[in-house]
Amino acid sequence: MSRADIGIIGGTGFGRLAELQSAQALDLDTAYGQPSSPVLVGSMASVPVAFLARHGTPHRIAPHRVNYAANIAALKAVGVRRIIAINAVGGIAEWAGPGVLALPDQLIDYSHGRISSFSDVEGQAVEHIDFTDPFSQTLRLKLLEAARSAAIDLHDGGVLAVTQGPRLETRAEIVRLARDGCDLVGMTSMPEAALAREAGIDYAAIAVVANAAAGCGGSEVIGMHEIEQTLAQAMHRVLKLVNALLPSL
Ligand code: HPA
Repeated sequence: MSRADIGIIGGTGFGRLAELQSAQALDLDTAYGQPSSPVLVGSMASVPVAFLARHGTPHRIAPHRVNYAANIAALKAVGVRRIIAINAVGGIAEWAGPGVLALPDQLIDYSHGRISSFSDVEGQAVEHIDFTDPFSQTLRLKLLEAARSAAIDLHDGGVLAVTQGPRLETRAEIVRLARDGCDLVGMTSMPEAALAREAGIDYAAIAVVANAAAGCGGSEVIGMHEIEQTLAQAMHRVLKLVNALLPSL
């Protein structure tokens, strides 16, 4: 079976990685069930990479229904020890306007009812992982360096709120998240980041601001069309960043 040290999890707007060369699609089954999509193992910038579409291909699995444990287990099964996650988010902080790429360094988990640990499965030992810093600082520094070398703006740091979805937030919820110190809001970084930590995999997320969070922008209603357009435009910068990153890993 093809193997790769580096995994990329693509979120909304990033369900395919067209640049992956000679990709082999692996239909994997794990002790935690089936991952969202086949794991594509190929190479990008001449580096072996495993790609997984978080919401399936085509996009059909809502954030609260993603089998995060199976996704992480499947990537681990092909040898992945470092994951770059790509997440569409809403922007709460002033600096986080639509189209901004950010590298969060903290998160607050507001999701609920998700299988959030490999220990949730009967018979598994309970593990209390350290999660003080949920994102790998080593990977974050490599991403910052790659962004500098490729002349891509990448905001360093930020607190990412993880909400349950799939609906977007209310105005009051965003006011509360801002009060909690959150800069960005997405729906899928948890339990993904925690499961990666449990699996001993380094994990960092590139957050792509798709829209101003509820009540933060000029428009009264957040439109899916606007979100899709912003993500499509950001895609080439994300790819450029990943291309610059891979040879340095
Ligand atoms: N909120 C939560 N998740 C998101 C948003 C948002 O506004 N935009 C894209 N993902």
